[in-house]
Amino acid sequence: MQNKDICAIVLAAGSGSRMNNIKKQFLKVNDKPLIYYSLKTLSCCDNIKNIIVVTKEEDVEYTTNIIKEYNFKKVIKTIKGGALRQDSVYSGLKCVPEEFEYVLIHDSARPFIKKEDVLNVINDGIKYNSATLGVKVKDTVKEIDNDGFVNKTLDRDKLVNIQTPQVANKSMLTEGFNKFNDRIFTDDTSILEAMGIKTKITFGDYSNIKITTKEDLIYLKDLI
Ligand code: CTP
Ligand code: MG
Repeated sequence: MQNKDICAIVLAAGSGSRMNNIKKQFLKVNDKPLIYYSLKTLSCCDNIKNIIVVTKEEDVEYTTNIIKEYNFKKVIKTIKGGALRQDSVYSGLKCVPEEFEYVLIHDSARPFIKKEDVLNVINDGIKYNSATLGVKVKDTVKEIDNDGFVNKTLDRDKLVNIQTPQVANKSMLTEGFNKFNDRIFTDDTSILEAMGIKTKITFGDYSNIKITTKEDLIYLKDLI
């Protein structure tokens, strides 16, 4: 096991536009806001020393109160995010205390993370400078043209669905953001990819879904 301290950035500044504008991060599940579940698991990981929570400006106080209520002692700051996910990550990254060499980024909309998988992705992130949890795709995936006809069938053995947490070398990720922030990235390893840095896939668990649309709400019963 690699032994370095990690600062986690937990993202909770989304609008939930694919869920009738419900801010998923605050959705009450078993009387607790969804963000509670990620914070609880991350707090249990010894390597993770500090946590920064990124939320919308209007929710900073509300979020701070949640953190106080559940006594998440590792949370050092609750800050405002930006319009895009990557803006929120960048805001968080700028607040990471200098002593940390590695950061972990996690979507609060993924409440089912397992401690073991978090530790594994941390281990790979430290070893390879960039790592992400992922799982092999289960469905056959095809590339299509603009008219909806199949161009080709992709090799499923080479395809993975990317999850969070993702772990990266802080200075490399910061350099990536400084250079490429004018492009749109849907995950953080893509920025490292643009820098020519290879990301290691840490195979995780299919249960680590992102709550995105109302169909996903049925999975929340597993938290209860
Ligand atoms: N997120 C964020 N800042 C943004 C956008 C998203 O911190 N500007 C966070 C969300 O709170 C979520 C995670 O990034 O925990 C993944 O984003 P997503 O599932 O897309 O959530 P939303 O952006 O809230 O949903 P939607 O895209 O449907 O609006
Ligand atoms: Mg979004």
